[in-house]
Parts: sequence; structure tokens; C-alpha cells
Amino acid sequence: MSNPESLTDPAESNAGLAKGSDADAVKKLFIKTYGCQMNVYDSERMAEAMGAKGYVLTDKADDADMVLLNTCHIREKASEKLYSDLGRLKPLKRDKPDLKIGVAGCVAQAEGAEIRRRMPLVDIVVGPQAYHRLPAMVEAGGAQVDTDFPVEDKFEHLPQRKGYRGPTAFLTVQEGCDKFCAFCVVPYTRGAEVSRPAARLMHEARELVARGVREITLLGQNVNGYHGEGEGKDWTLARLIRELAEIDGLDRIRYTTSHPNDMDDDLIAAHGDVPQLMPYLHLPVQSGSDRILKAMNRKHTRDQYFRLIDRIRAARPDILMTSDFIVGFPGETDQDFADTMDLVARVGYGAAFSFKYSARPGTPAAEKPGVEAAVADARLQALQRLILDQQHAAQAAMVGREISVLYEKPGRLPGQMVGKSDHLMAVHVSDPEGRIGDLVRARVTAASSNSLAAERLF
Ligand code: SAH
Ligand code: SF4
Ligand code: F3S
Repeated sequence: MSNPESLTDPAESNAGLAKGSDADAVKKLFIKTYGCQMNVYDSERMAEAMGAKGYVLTDKADDADMVLLNTCHIREKASEKLYSDLGRLKPLKRDKPDLKIGVAGCVAQAEGAEIRRRMPLVDIVVGPQAYHRLPAMVEAGGAQVDTDFPVEDKFEHLPQRKGYRGPTAFLTVQEGCDKFCAFCVVPYTRGAEVSRPAARLMHEARELVARGVREITLLGQNVNGYHGEGEGKDWTLARLIRELAEIDGLDRIRYTTSHPNDMDDDLIAAHGDVPQLMPYLHLPVQSGSDRILKAMNRKHTRDQYFRLIDRIRAARPDILMTSDFIVGFPGETDQDFADTMDLVARVGYGAAFSFKYSARPGTPAAEKPGVEAAVADARLQALQRLILDQQHAAQAAMVGREISVLYEKPGRLPGQMVGKSDHLMAVHVSDPEGRIGDLVRARVTAASSNSLAAERLF
């Protein structure tokens, strides 16, 4: 998740995109991205769309002619951040009445025109399926709200991707979700599951590789449910991964986020026989209790999850598993929580996100009373301690091992490069000759909780 804390911090989504240098000739766009990687991808596409209208990105909201907040609705806190950030923009808009303020993403979809009623300084509200129309909305001027799920495919209307953009990229292959987990807003904010046609994804991937990309992470709210059409046949995610692996220069493939019920045999097999598919899998389970899994509408049991993990590990023994968990779901007892702790202990994760349940308006679970806040807090702390211990152990187990590292940026020390390992761990390598985009072999010499140190092997 990317949640840059301050409005004046560079938004993560600005990384890798053209920044303006010619101070006055162009208009400046500041984007802040909240929430998941799909939003990071959308921010890039919105920046490119506005680029075609003469906007370049700036890292500073104070400099901007337009501020765009690409929002997340997943938990109450995430949504409320929008309103506190809008509050902080008030003085800026007072000093600069021409400043355009746009709200995009999942809060825009969920609250629509309500956002302008609450915060009249907002000029534009645009949903995640309508943002190809953003340039036209800006051009039209005045207040605009568009939260349609348009019939036209937004990807058809976005500009071609061009220019160097760093060695890693996201590629959204699937949008929306039909699973309707009882706690989750995504099926409402992103709409029904839609898979992009395979031919267009292959084309976009080739374009990215031609721009210097060596690692692509395929994205979807339910990415392994991908069912695109291509050559008259249905393509699964496994098929797409196998075809992508044929692209010369594409060295690494990842995908996120997957649902346990959509891990088909071929996808599991691909983890064993596609060398470009990295040994890392984010497979959220949310709870270790059968009772709670049922109440969440997850449609599988803890035993089915264990058996699935066994099969994945049989295909790729060194795979690193990660997950998401929710504690304090309505009706969760001490025993249910003990089952979650037991599941975590049995699986052994490389890392995991855990959240306190947040009641979201319009979802079925929101009708039921939640667990007492102090109890949920204590459970969250205990779970996070266990997960952190596992994370430390996974990092420490890497010491002495030979890994690959894709350099993404220079490190803080002179002559140092920073990149990710096959297992998506951050790695520092002392390599004065190293350049961004190099994919090198290295041996891990030390581990801290959040990163590894390694020496380059020649
Ligand atoms: N599609 C993914 C998850 C997308 S949301 C999946 O099915 O796993 C990312 C994570 O946010 C979820 O995995 C869940 O752990 C958490 N989350 C979603 N809704 C939530 C809520 N109402 N309260 C707390 N956490 C929530
Ligand atoms: Fe939300 Fe469940 Fe869909 Fe994931 S699978 S996006 S948690 S409804
Ligand atoms: Fe948030 Fe929307 Fe992603 S609710 S997690 S930004 S799909």
C-alpha cells in the first residue's frame, strides 16, 4: 500500500514520470495517491493523459496549477484522509483561485457529488472507470462530477505509453470484483469484474519493455480471476504469464492480488516452470477461523487454504507467502482469533498486512455490531507481533544465499545501489559501477527487519 503522509511529500506515483523543468512554459500537476497499486497505476495513466494537455508533474502541491487526490475508500481512516487533506488545501486555493482541485479514485466513486457539497473547493470528481475523460473535464472548466461506469473502455481512450520509465512497472489486467466479501467496498467502488483483452495487454507489456522495463507486476483486485479473450480463446492468468515470459527483455513477472479460490492448477504449475515468475505470492486469507471465513463470504475453509499452500510450495519450494488479515470482524471470538494466530504460525509468512475491521457503509457486515475496540486493538497488536517475528526470520534466513537484485535507485551511501530481490525484499548492494535497471547476482551478507545487505557476484 502506498500512503504518502504529507501533501508536500513527493507522491509515490510521481516516481518515474516526466517532471517539469521549464518553470513557466507548462502547467503543473501534483498527484497524491492513496490506497492500492491499482491506484498507483491509475495515477500514472491520469498523469499521462494530462501530459497530452501540457501538464507536467510537480512534487510540490504549492507549485501546482492542479492538485489531484487519487483516493481509497477501503477503511474509514483511508477515506477521512481525503477530507483532512482537502482542509489543508484551503489556504492554497484562497491564494490561488485558479488552482484546480480534483478528487479521483474510490472515494470519488462512492461519494460522488457529496464531496463537493462537503468541500466546495473541489472542482472535479472523477471515478476510477471514467478518468479517461479527465482532460475533457478540465478543459470544459467549472464544477464537474463523473462517476459513470462508462460503456466505452477507458483504456481505449488513454494516450499511448511512451518515454523511459524505470525498470519496474505495474500493468492492470483486470478491474473490479464480483466476490462481495461481506466487509469490502471494492465491488461497489470499482464495479463488476472485467478482464482486459489479452492482445492489448501483450501490446502494452511490449511497449513497457521497449521503454526499459524489466519487471512487470500484473494487477487486479482479483488478478488470478483474469479471463481475457485473445485469438478467439479464453486466456487465464497462467496463459498470460506464459506468453509474457516469451517477451525478450522481460526478466521478471509478478502479480497481485489473488484470491485463494482462483488459484487454478496451471497457475500453480507456472510457479514451478516459468523462471521469470518470481517466487513470491500474496494470497490474502483474512482469518483463520472457519466460522469467520463463512461470515466474511470468503467461500473456502482454513483446511482448503492449507492444502492450497502445500500444493503451491510443492511447485515452488522457496516461494515466499504473504497475506492480509482483518481482526475484530463482527462476531469474532477469542477462539476465532486463536485460530487466526494458529493459521499464521502454521503457514509461516514472509510478511503480511493486518487491519482492524472497519465498518463500511453499504456492505453487509456493516449491519452487525463490531467487536469492542480495546479487544480488537489487543488482537491486532498480538497478530502484528507474530507476523513481524516471521518477517524477521524470513529476512534472516536469506543470509548467505545467492539472489538476484534489480536495481531501482542509488542507495544513501556513495557507491550503493538499492533494488528488490526475487522475494521482493529490499536489498542494498555496494556496487560503484552499478546502474539503475541492472539485474545482478549477489550474495546476502546481512539482514535487518526491512532490508538485506548483499555483495555483488561477478
Ligand atoms: N482483493 C484483495 C483485497 C483488496 S483490499 C483480496 O481479496 O484479498 C486489501 C485488504 O484490505 C483486504 O485484503 C483486507 O484485508 C483489507 N480490508 C478490506 N476491507 C476492509 C474493512 N472493511 N476493514 C478492514 N480491512 C479491510
Ligand atoms: Fe474485496 Fe473480497 Fe473482492 Fe478482495 S475478493 S476486492 S476483499 S470483495
Ligand atoms: Fe482502496 Fe479502491 Fe484500491 S478502495 S484499496 S483504492 S481498489
